[in-house]
Amino acid sequence: MPRSLAVQTETELGGALSVLTLQRRDHQRLDLLLERVANTTGGERQDALTALCRLVFPHAFAEEAVLWPLVRRTLPDGAALTLRVEQEHQEINELFTDLEQTDPGSLQHLQLFGRIAELVRQDARDEEDVLLPKLQEALDPRALRRAGLMWLAVRYTAPTRPHPTVARRPPGNALAALPLTGLDRSRDRLDQLSRRAPAPLAAGCRGASRTLATVAGAVEHLPPLRRGEHPSTRT
Ligand SMILES: [Fe+2]
Ligand SMILES: [Fe+2]
Repeated sequence: MPRSLAVQTETELGGALSVLTLQRRDHQRLDLLLERVANTTGGERQDALTALCRLVFPHAFAEEAVLWPLVRRTLPDGAALTLRVEQEHQEINELFTDLEQTDPGSLQHLQLFGRIAELVRQDARDEEDVLLPKLQEALDPRALRRAGLMWLAVRYTAPTRPHPTVARRPPGNALAALPLTGLDRSRDRLDQLSRRAPAPLAAGCRGASRTLATVAGAVEHLPPLRRGEHPSTRT
């Protein structure tokens, strides 16, 4: 009988580099960030929201690019299990895109964040309680560590912002990785710089970030980046 990752020791999960340990650690960090957003206001809340976004999207992108294809190759019911979490990821991408366009002080913003928090926590439970324990039964610890290293490598080089029009499956998401990672991570640096720089330079950084956002918006609509999507991923 598969056991939830939540009740297992690190040794049972396959060690520090097992994909199961790495997943659980990120889920705990995501939960803390959700708490921080919910319990703070103003600039502190905005910083927590940015940190949440910078973790949730690389985490999910790396799952979609390397982990769920492995699950589909390994488990007989892998296609159905991964489709459910891809649908959750898609909804989180759409909600975050809407969130970025609403006033942080508005009721709509609070409602959108509430739904995002619910979905991020549901996604972690689906993975830790159902999907990953099944993968654990099918793979030995060495294979779990190999999967952990692959997942980690993509997680550190993946896009950091929501991209709801890109496929949640290869080959579309794999093709999207290179241009969108470059654009997102350049925008992250420009946004950081704009908070510290003197006024004229800060305005320039914000302008450059907006230009890169427009480029990213155009890139993610390229037809090859939508290839591989399961038709029911989008509601
Ligand atoms: Fe996860
Ligand atoms: Fe996930």
